[in-house]
Amino acid sequence: MLELRTLTSDDWPLWRELRLAALAEAPYAFGSTLAEWQGDGDREERWRGRLSIPGARDLVAVLDGRPVGMSSGVPVEGDTTAAELISMWVSPAARGHGVADGLIDAIARWAVARGARTLLLSVRPDNTNATALYARHGFTDTGELGEALPDGSGHERVLAKPLRGAA
Ligand SMILES: CC(C)(COP(=O)(O)OP(=O)(O)OC[C@H]1O[C@@H](n2cnc3c(N)ncnc32)[C@H](O)[C@@H]1OP(=O)(O)O)[C@@H](O)C(=O)NCCC(=O)NCCS
Repeated sequence: MLELRTLTSDDWPLWRELRLAALAEAPYAFGSTLAEWQGDGDREERWRGRLSIPGARDLVAVLDGRPVGMSSGVPVEGDTTAAELISMWVSPAARGHGVADGLIDAIARWAVARGARTLLLSVRPDNTNATALYARHGFTDTGELGEALPDGSGHERVLAKPLRGAA
């Protein structure tokens, strides 16, 4: 059974555990690096700060009692009609069971409840699993360039999904 938990900053140890696992397992997928969140970067107040973004929703997916995935919805600065999906990760053992589907649907519902009409995200062009997942959920390429890739070979793609039921 899949359960989605909404976290508060007090849940930072759980978020930390999953986020460090995500950055170690899928460094190709994220703008942040494991090194940035280890050592001096691995501090309680920093994790609490990450879980205290005003207006954001931070989720952990629990499959059969075990935390196996995460994602966040965050407001888009200067654009109240949009929200952004970030930090999406499902542990390898739990992939292919619809965990990401549940996370995306929950963030989309959160965004609709906030009054957003569009859900945005950024994905690296070579991340084929994530790209297929997002296409299945109705995200299309906006043509905008996202952040530059660390190897200088291009930029992240910015995808958008229109939200039904938005005001
Ligand atoms: C992308 C990701 C979140 C998908 O999670 P998931 O719960 O397995 O999602 P799905 O079950 O819908 O599978 C998505 C795709 O992964 C692939 N997949 C399915 N089962 C898989 C498995 N057991 N192992 C690896 N990949 C699998 C498939 O290609 C599937 O694409 P499809 O829709 O064409 O079948 C997950 O693979 C992941 O965390 N990847 C690393 C981090 C990442 O890329 N995050 C996104 C950053 S933008």
